[in-house]
Amino acid sequence: MKTLRIDLGERSYPIYIGDGLLDEPELIGRHVEGGQVMVVTNEVVAPLYLDRVMAGLNVKEKHSLILPDGENHKHLATVETIFDALLAHRFSRTATLIALGGGVIGDIVGFAAACYQRGIPFIQIPTTLLAQVDSSVGGKTGVNHPLGKNMIGAFYQPQAVIADTRVLDTLPDRELKAGIAEVIKYGLIRDAPFFRWLEEKMASMLARDPEIMSHAIERSCRNKADVVAEDERESGLRAILNFGHTFGHAIETGMGYGRYLHGEAVAIGMCQAADLSCRCGCLSPSDVQRIVDLVSRAGLPTRPPPELDSGKFLDLMAVDKKNVDGRLRLILLEAIGKATLPVSVPMDLLRATLNGYGRTSV
Ligand code: NAD
Ligand code: GLY
Repeated sequence: MKTLRIDLGERSYPIYIGDGLLDEPELIGRHVEGGQVMVVTNEVVAPLYLDRVMAGLNVKEKHSLILPDGENHKHLATVETIFDALLAHRFSRTATLIALGGGVIGDIVGFAAACYQRGIPFIQIPTTLLAQVDSSVGGKTGVNHPLGKNMIGAFYQPQAVIADTRVLDTLPDRELKAGIAEVIKYGLIRDAPFFRWLEEKMASMLARDPEIMSHAIERSCRNKADVVAEDERESGLRAILNFGHTFGHAIETGMGYGRYLHGEAVAIGMCQAADLSCRCGCLSPSDVQRIVDLVSRAGLPTRPPPELDSGKFLDLMAVDKKNVDGRLRLILLEAIGKATLPVSVPMDLLRATLNGYGRTSV
């Protein structure tokens, strides 16, 4: 088992990464506070892993709540379902919530934990690659609004993140690839050697080679932990973690939540952002091609949906947390491994990317 630490003063916590961690209940027990625990999961993950987590909990009172599966349930009404269950069981402010699932469960449960009685402890047990490398780490929690992705939420750090790499065995290939998109992101924004390593090892990642996967998860978490430790509440540097996400969120919202997986939308968004970086004179055409090639070799989409024209894209991109005073701000790449902070980009270049990149077959 590897233990990384996310350094946030009194809100610091460990990220455990290893094979078979769900069979080590004392790991969870170490971070449970109070005598009441509720494990929240969904209808897909519950039959696979819920019993094991419940059996390992040695507390006075334990309950579970099984939510419907999917991004289209990531909204306020689902958070209320959690409050209903917590109140029905008379959970106090010393109770602990456990999020067992992918990023959707982690984001919803984290937000519920942030709000219930003004904040109760919670533990992340991420079960998708995307959640293990990104969403469970760093304390961003929240839900979608029909007008914008992740628009309602809170920064709220978990007590611990427990990433059992063995649970990825049951993850469908499409979900694995979606997680690889966020792994590639770390190489692009701040870790050029990792990007080169991914270029070499992509076939082994897709084949789920355990050593390769474990290295990729650890390196991704290390990158994320370093960025979050420097800028927990995204007053600057943390925005680079959103590379490609403004385009990606527009695709998710515009196409209807759940049609494109988050990682797929981010994959396309990173290619669009690379194209825009090139048009802005920051990135070479050959580096754009390397990025598109790696994304494509990961089995991820690289072109925007034809249904979303540039006008719709711009409308949707206007609802983004990086925008300031109505001005659209985006993360660009100066090189592979070096992202810029959010910058206002010339509208004509952004339109050129939206109309030009990936719109015609070559
Ligand atoms: P997800 O949570 O929908 O999980 C994907 C699918 O895999 C679901 O059907 C799920 O039930 C299933 N699943 C989960 N674990 C499984 C397993 N071990 N075996 C089989 N099936 C399993 O999607 P995701 O990609 O994990 O997360 C995407 C969400 O994360 C988005 O809502 C996105 O906005 C959010 N996100 C948040 C952050 C953050 O910092 N908070 C960062 C990135 C993404
Ligand atoms: N996924 C973006 C962040 O955690 O900041």
